[in-house]
Amino acid sequence: MAARPVLLLGGSGFIGRHVAARLAARAHHVIVPTRNRERARALLTLPTVQVFQADVQDDAQLASLVRSADAVINLVGVLDGGRGSPWGPGFERAHVKLVARIVEAARAAGLRRLLHVSALGVHEGGERTLPSMYLRSKAAGERLVRDAGDLQWTVFRPSVVFGRGDSLIERFMLLQRWLPVIPLGRADARLQPVWVGDVARALVNALDEQATVHRCYELAGPDVWTLRELIRFAGELSGYRRTVVGLPEALGRLQAMLLEFAPGALHMSRDNFASLSIDNVADGPIAAELRIEPASLASIAPSYLDVHELRLAEERRRARR
Ligand SMILES: NC(=O)c1ccc[n+]([C@@H]2O[C@H](COP(=O)([O-])OP(=O)(O)OC[C@H]3O[C@@H](n4cnc5c(N)ncnc54)[C@H](OP(=O)(O)O)[C@@H]3O)[C@@H](O)[C@H]2O)c1
Repeated sequence: MAARPVLLLGGSGFIGRHVAARLAARAHHVIVPTRNRERARALLTLPTVQVFQADVQDDAQLASLVRSADAVINLVGVLDGGRGSPWGPGFERAHVKLVARIVEAARAAGLRRLLHVSALGVHEGGERTLPSMYLRSKAAGERLVRDAGDLQWTVFRPSVVFGRGDSLIERFMLLQRWLPVIPLGRADARLQPVWVGDVARALVNALDEQATVHRCYELAGPDVWTLRELIRFAGELSGYRRTVVGLPEALGRLQAMLLEFAPGALHMSRDNFASLSIDNVADGPIAAELRIEPASLASIAPSYLDVHELRLAEERRRARR
């Protein structure tokens, strides 16, 4: 009997698209439910990947998708989930309630394997102590998975992820095209960017690796960067290297508040700003059983960033306005 498919929740997103391609390259059958098929357009050409318009927030639809699968990989996440205490409603829906429902559906279906993507910085008890709604709600969702000892789960905590289609380096490049100087809050925040290809490989390698069951893995690249250094690097790549002006705490927060109303690459929230108040750095190298030799941002970014393509895309966007 052919193996049942892998259900890739959040498969239409940035990381999900790379995971789907990696699974397809290993001849896995993959199901990607999405609220908007158009968003998953890039997946339609992958031979073993099926994209469905579906609402995984609906219990019956989720249960039926989970029943049809051998393994679930959960990549659903939001950076902006509204405001609230201890977190806004969008975070509750995507990071907590959905995870509880996935765990329940997985139990009911006798699912073989559950992989859950959390975020670097999340730790036990973090739902009470972490500085942002994003991180606190991620911690609450992660705990629901870790508490499900009857399921064969593995949790991943990636640092900020870079790669084709990311919202990190491409965004910093565009900002330097548009702005003469870059005013920056939390310029000295430390991050350890990890390549999306390595994240995808770690997840796919873990699927059939028994040693990864009931383990949490940090995923980070080989180098630690400050935010200021990342912006400078993107400036050099784009040919528009601007001066970065570090903002004091209060001004940085005010900037984030104003940018909540900005569209596209300029958009930022007070909650994103709060997430930057703790280091986004791993405790050690990626665990050996994941079989990853992480690639560095400096070596990979020039190969995937097509500066001309980015400029053309930007000009097309402007022409449409
Ligand atoms: N990118 C990073 O640097 C980074 C770093 C650390 C951790 N992570 C985590 O990694 C995961 C994937 O990140 P990403 O950058 O690939 O995200 P992304 O590009 O924004 O994609 C998010 C995915 O989640 C789905 N989704 C969002 N809200 C949903 C909801 N309420 N109900 C159902 N589906 C919903 C979207 O599906 P639709 O097609 O239905 O819209 C989409 O496929 C997230 O959990 C994120 O927190 C990302």
